[in-house]
Order: sequence, then structure tokens, then C-alpha cells
Amino acid sequence: MESIRGKVVLLTGASRGLGPFVAEALAGAGADLALVARSAAGLQEVAARLAAHGGRVAVIPADLAREPQRAEVVHRTVAELGPVDVLVNNAGVENEGAFLLQRREEIREMVEVNLVAPLELAQLVLPAMVERRRGQIVNIASVAGKAPLPWGAVYAASKAALAHWARSLRLELAGSGIEISTIYPGYVRRAGMFARFGLEPPPTIGAVEPEAVAAAVLRALTGRRRELIVSARPLRPALALAELFPGAGEWLMHRLGAVEFQRRKARG
Ligand SMILES: NC(=O)c1ccc[n+]([C@@H]2O[C@H](COP(=O)([O-])OP(=O)(O)OC[C@H]3O[C@@H](n4cnc5c(N)ncnc54)[C@H](OP(=O)(O)O)[C@@H]3O)[C@@H](O)[C@H]2O)c1
Repeated sequence: MESIRGKVVLLTGASRGLGPFVAEALAGAGADLALVARSAAGLQEVAARLAAHGGRVAVIPADLAREPQRAEVVHRTVAELGPVDVLVNNAGVENEGAFLLQRREEIREMVEVNLVAPLELAQLVLPAMVERRRGQIVNIASVAGKAPLPWGAVYAASKAALAHWARSLRLELAGSGIEISTIYPGYVRRAGMFARFGLEPPPTIGAVEPEAVAAAVLRALTGRRRELIVSARPLRPALALAELFPGAGEWLMHRLGAVEFQRRKARG
């Protein structure tokens, strides 16, 4: 088992939702953390809570939808904590709704934050990792990156692209000492973008606790796991079936109540 004690972790999306849970789990395991998001106040609050763990914490407010701020985030992390050992691409945006009604800015925001920012952050941290022959990148995708998500089509596309990029890059970097992991959470209750809707998913799908996602990030890092699905029900067979037979996948989505639930969720 790999230890993350004393490692420098750059965690995006650390101000609210699942990020603080991930921060707590990693700080608890002894990591030093650079916390990134737009809300400085949110990050400060999380940093204050992490103080009990005794590790170093840097608060780095930044808007990851803006390209120049991505390089600034990495620059400040290295300056304040040292070379980045681990990048956790957790920041994400889900602008829900009917695709035909979606504004261009909403589409671009999802693609920039969910996909382009993780790729660029990886390009910024990887050269030093390759040189040191060690480093880990963890991407928080979504089950929506494996299964279709009506009224969340662009979000699903951004997550599928992120996951597929990770799979490709993993092969490209094989033997370099760099590990790349992807986490696929299902609906998460109590905190985060899904919990804010205040809806309970159909029992056939269910929801997981935020701590389970945080534990998966830690497991991916310490156990060098390639991919982890964090869902309330065992989804792997259904996801594999949907990949092989898209028609069966759509039938299953209806059968599980997922299509109707997404429609209801998008109506608000
Ligand atoms: N919650 C779920 O049910 C669920 C399920 C599957 C996957 N996920 C994935 O899990 C990750 C975390 O989601 P969450 O539920 O914690 O969402 P959330 O509660 O909406 O939090 C999103 C985080 O990303 C940050 N962020 C958003 N836009 C940003 C920007 N332009 N620049 C910098 N930071 C930005 C937010 O901070 P600021 O607003 O302060 O910038 C916040 O810290 C996402 O990638 C999401 O897609 C979540």
C-alpha cells in the first residue's frame, strides 16, 4: 500500500460539496493540501477544519474556467508547498436541462471546468512528475460518464471524455511511474450538486454518502486503483451491458426509473 503522508496534493473543487470530504480524508491520511476553488471564504473554512490534522494547507482561490488561472494555481502550489505529487481533478459543474434550451455559456462552462481544466492542469503538473518518475492524478468523473444521462447530456459527455482521456493517457504513460485513476460516483446524498436538488433517487438506483467518494479517492491513491465506481447498487453489469448494447442500455435506463427521474429533476 502506497502512503500519501507528506505528499503534496492539489485538490480542485475544495470549497463545498464533495471536495471538503475528500480534503478531510486526505489530510487525515497525512497529506499536505492545496485547496482550489473560486470561493476564498469557502476554502478558508475548509482549511480551518483541516488544521486539526497538522498537515500544511494552502488556500488558492481561482476560477478554473479561465485559462491563465490554471497555470497560476500550479505555480502557487509549488511555491507554497513544493512539487505536486498528486492532482485531484474534482471541481465540476452540472448545468442541467433540455439540451435544446441550453445556453452556449452553460455548455462552455461545463466543458471548460469538467474537461479542459483537468487536462490543462495535468499538462502543467506532469512534466515535473515525469522527471521525478512519480506522481498520481485522480479524476472525479461520474457514472454519467459511463451511462447516458438525459437532461444532462453535456455533463455526461464531459465526464465520458474525461474518463476516456484518462484511460488513453494511462497507456501513454505506462512505465513512467505516473498513476492515473478515475472515480465514477453515482448520485451522492447530503452534500454536493445532486443533494442540492433535495430529491431521493428511485430505490433501484439509490444514492451514496459523500464519505464513500472520499474513501474511494484515498483507495485509488493508496491502492493504485485504475477505476472505482461508487454507487449504492452494483452497477458494473448494467454499465457493461449498456456499453455493448446501447438499445438494452436505454431500456434499462427506463426500467430503473432513471429517465423519468432525470426528467423530474430537470423540471426542478
Ligand atoms: N454530487 C454528486 O452527486 C456527484 C455525482 C457524480 C459525480 N460528481 C462529481 O464530483 C465532483 C464534485 O461535485 P460536487 O457534488 O461536490 O459539486 P458542487 O457541490 O457543485 O461543488 C463543485 C466544486 O467545484 C468548484 N468549482 C465549480 N466551478 C469552478 C470554477 N469555475 N473554478 C474553480 N472551481 C470551481 C466549486 O467551488 P466554487 O463555487 O467555490 O468555485 C465547488 O468546490 C464534480 O466533478 C462532480 O461532477 C458529483
